[in-house]
Amino acid sequence: MTDKYAVIGNPIAHSKSPQIHKMFAEQTNQDISYEAILAPLDGFAATIERLRKEGYKGCSVTVPFKFEAFKVANEIGFEVMDALDSAHEADAVNTLVFQNNKIGGYNTDGIGLVNDIVDNRKIPLKDKRILLIGAGGAATGVLHPLLEASQSPLVIYNRTLEKAESLKKTTIQYEKFRHASLETVEFGHLGKKQFDVVINATSAGLNGSEIPLPSTIFASNALAYDMMYGRETPFIKFSREHGAQVADGLGMLVEQAAEAFFIWRGIRPNTAPVIAALQIPRQS
Ligand code: ATR
Repeated sequence: MTDKYAVIGNPIAHSKSPQIHKMFAEQTNQDISYEAILAPLDGFAATIERLRKEGYKGCSVTVPFKFEAFKVANEIGFEVMDALDSAHEADAVNTLVFQNNKIGGYNTDGIGLVNDIVDNRKIPLKDKRILLIGAGGAATGVLHPLLEASQSPLVIYNRTLEKAESLKKTTIQYEKFRHASLETVEFGHLGKKQFDVVINATSAGLNGSEIPLPSTIFASNALAYDMMYGRETPFIKFSREHGAQVADGLGMLVEQAAEAFFIWRGIRPNTAPVIAALQIPRQS
């Protein structure tokens, strides 16, 4: 019997996830369906309930429901699964598993980002100076895997300093990050600091807003990574003009989906042909 999955968000029409999971399923001979579902802004929990009743096996969760997905999974009860810690730490969930009366919640965004940078782009993160721009849901979801991969000081740069401080505070409460070197900086106060990897996790690119960055920000061979994909953001334009190698979030999108697929199906799909297939229309 075909196992049903979906991605839930608002808006959702633009989502590439159905295409990605269809390619994964074909590649690995998995009998699944995967559709995009628009949930009303006040109807996420009700949508999850409906899917569970209808026998879905799990779902992906995207903007703006990742914090709510964590709450829903937490209230109904987590299965004890290996990746459980990652959801607890991030307080944001992008992958749900429906099993019997329980819901498992995971966050695969951070591992997706790290895999794209380290495996696909062959840029090791160990000992790299990382600047993480943003302190919202997207930044929260990737901070811990970045710290684990770099094992070095990381700066959180955000328009609203209090949000960056609150993200730092919740992070250093975890035993393994108790001694992490995390600095918070408000927009406009970076001075002459230089970074090897600069990651834009803000939603500023959605409306074409610029992020104030000094022209001296990039160390030599620096990587500028915008977690947004499918458009040339002012951040990408600035980074290219100032000598950084640039990347958008398409690889991260496919890698986080592969981790979700692995959680659901126990098989790790090959991501390279999927990333290549999704890139073709953008180049024409
Ligand atoms: P998401 O789930 O996409 O992270 P979010 O939780 O609302 O959404 O967080 C949005 C992030 O983008 C925040 O870091 C926000 O900065 P503030 O904390 O100051 O609100 C940042 N952001 C959104 N619009 C921005 C803009 N025009 N310029 C700079 N930062 C912006």
